[in-house]
Amino acid sequence: MQPMPWTGMPSKQGHQPSKSVRQKLLENRMERSVLTFALVVVMTALGFSRAEQVNNSASGGLLWTSGDGHLVGNAETDESLNDHEEFDGGFPSLDGMLQWAIGHSDPAKLELKAHDVQQLSADELQKRQMELKELVEKLEMPSDAKLMKIAIDDLNNLSLSLVDRHRALEELLVLVEAIDNANDLHKMGGLSVVIRELTHSDSGVRTKCAWIIGKASQNNPIVQEQVLELGALPTLITMVKSSFTEEAIKALYAVSSVIRNNQNGIELFYSEGGDLMVQGVLSNVTTDVRLQRRSVSLVGDLAEHQLEHSSKPEPRFFSNCALVRPVLDLTTSNDLDLQEKVLVTVKNLLMLKSADLLVVDGFCGLKGALERMRHQLQQEEDRREYAIDVEGLCKEVNSIYLEKLNKVSQVPT
Ligand SMILES: *[C@@H]1O[C@H](CO)[C@@H](O)[C@H](O)[C@H]1NC(C)=O
Ligand SMILES: *[C@@H]1O[C@H](CO)[C@@H](O)[C@H](O)[C@H]1NC(C)=O
Repeated sequence: MQPMPWTGMPSKQGHQPSKSVRQKLLENRMERSVLTFALVVVMTALGFSRAEQVNNSASGGLLWTSGDGHLVGNAETDESLNDHEEFDGGFPSLDGMLQWAIGHSDPAKLELKAHDVQQLSADELQKRQMELKELVEKLEMPSDAKLMKIAIDDLNNLSLSLVDRHRALEELLVLVEAIDNANDLHKMGGLSVVIRELTHSDSGVRTKCAWIIGKASQNNPIVQEQVLELGALPTLITMVKSSFTEEAIKALYAVSSVIRNNQNGIELFYSEGGDLMVQGVLSNVTTDVRLQRRSVSLVGDLAEHQLEHSSKPEPRFFSNCALVRPVLDLTTSNDLDLQEKVLVTVKNLLMLKSADLLVVDGFCGLKGALERMRHQLQQEEDRREYAIDVEGLCKEVNSIYLEKLNKVSQVPT
């Protein structure tokens, strides 16, 4: 079995005896809680006997027939760009774990065993659950709360070395993936510490802090409000302008997570100049493509939120060629994923009330952009099916545009 893909920290320097114990605890938590727990849950659900569980746990064979041991998605820097599909390594519920484990199991074996499960009575199932609980208790894993406290205490230690500071942040990054831990972070003083460290002199530390904030507040209104109350949003918005690309990307990830579907957050975003920041990123031709992708998604999310709350006045931000044109310019990218995001965003922008005026004027050159894009998509050879989907989206955007143009032109001025 492969060890956890650790996020590339040097592990030899700065080792105190207690550190290696901590490392073990965390690795233990990752490997045992996730692997063994998932294994046991699936086997229990599928009606394996206890003896079989032990045997299979030892060989670790069942779940990993097709897996590569790559459990937690945060090792890749690109994770922040796929926040909707991101794998939640924390397994907040037994159900989620079961779903995940089934998804990673051998379908042939599952089918075979599914038959047996149906034969189990409610009593038998309950008995299995009790056995499972017993097993888990025997694993004697340190609680997440304990691990979080150690990491937070370390971050509060001013004489901690930079290497250890990075390590403590990585530990928090793993821990806050579980929603219960994210919810406890503030109570334990962790959120204030992480926000304070956003101004650390080391860009790597700032990057990880933004990442933690983004992860903890993702789809989590409680943490979103806490972050807003602690005043971190303006700092994060400023960080997006960082000349360190990773820092800028994680800061934008955090900004998006904190304000997503959050009216307070969105209002603060506008009043703190977040709109100008996004516009700046989009119109900068040398911007990293990952930053562009995330910016386009953010604009799309903001427009969607606006559409869902149509009683609120529409910010001028949307109905402005200073925003729309740089978005359309990205259609010349040969990154299909980015093109798709651009189209979804343009679709939302077109549907806003305040788009009428721009539509009369050709929506900042939409027609030409769509034509270029279609032409380009027809040349796409490697990912033909995806290209066809994106072409379909092109057509949809075009017909929304024409419909709106037709409607607007009929209104006497
Ligand atoms: C703070 O960190 C230093 C250096 O790692 C260590 O020697 C010291 O024991 C720590 N202090 C506390 C209170 O943990
Ligand atoms: C454009 O982006 C590059 C790379 O991220 C950055 O170095 C540069 O300062 C940006 N330019 C402006 C005008 O913001």
